[in-house]
Amino acid sequence: MTRGLFVTLEGGDGAGKTTQAQLLAEWLSDRGASVVRTREPGGTEVGALIRDIVLHHRGEVAPRAEALLYAADRAHHIATLVRPALERGDVVIQDRYLDSSVAYQGAGRVLGRDEVRELSLWAAEGLLPDLTVLLDLDPDLARSRLDADDKPFDRLEAEKEVFHAAVRAEFLALATAEPDRFLVMDATRPAAEIAGAVRDRVAGLLEARSGDVGAAD
Ligand code: TYD
Repeated sequence: MTRGLFVTLEGGDGAGKTTQAQLLAEWLSDRGASVVRTREPGGTEVGALIRDIVLHHRGEVAPRAEALLYAADRAHHIATLVRPALERGDVVIQDRYLDSSVAYQGAGRVLGRDEVRELSLWAAEGLLPDLTVLLDLDPDLARSRLDADDKPFDRLEAEKEVFHAAVRAEFLALATAEPDRFLVMDATRPAAEIAGAVRDRVAGLLEARSGDVGAAD
């Protein structure tokens, strides 16, 4: 079966995911690839409604309800947008995916990481990325980047420092557990340097893929 490539970007708030997604998308488009840029939460119309609840609702959302809201966004997004794109053979570049759920809902809060991961895998019918770029950044530095942006914090950005430190540690643990899927980059490196390393990995994956297709013919 011909299948596209699924690349996700992960990391704390303010780590530069959007910049890297943009640079990768431009490079791939210039090479003639068909690229879909998307994000969670909020990559679909239904998702935009869910995003509004999880990021902007004032007051408490019970932890299981929050995990289910992210999972609901994911289920709809993967089924209606991401899988069809991959089946067409497109490259999907996505800001945040199930690793964010494990890191934010699993490690930072009262739910266990395994149950959060299982819930996400159920929602996405087992879909895992071909490559996950983790932009690793000290939460204190991330905070000063967000301060410089001069935008109001959303609900999660306003969480305490200890929460962000736990999220960072969980992302790094996830990367250690799945070294083949993850590319960990120091987010303080120049954006062009990070983009170069990401391109190298993506080029390798695309090459391997075209080799597979050749072998199957
Ligand atoms: P957003 O403004 O989209 O992201 P970013 O900080 O990457 O620019 O905010 C998304 C927030 O949602 C972010 O703080 C992480 C959080 N989140 C979860 O807690 N669980 C999830 O499963 C996902 C996808 C995101």
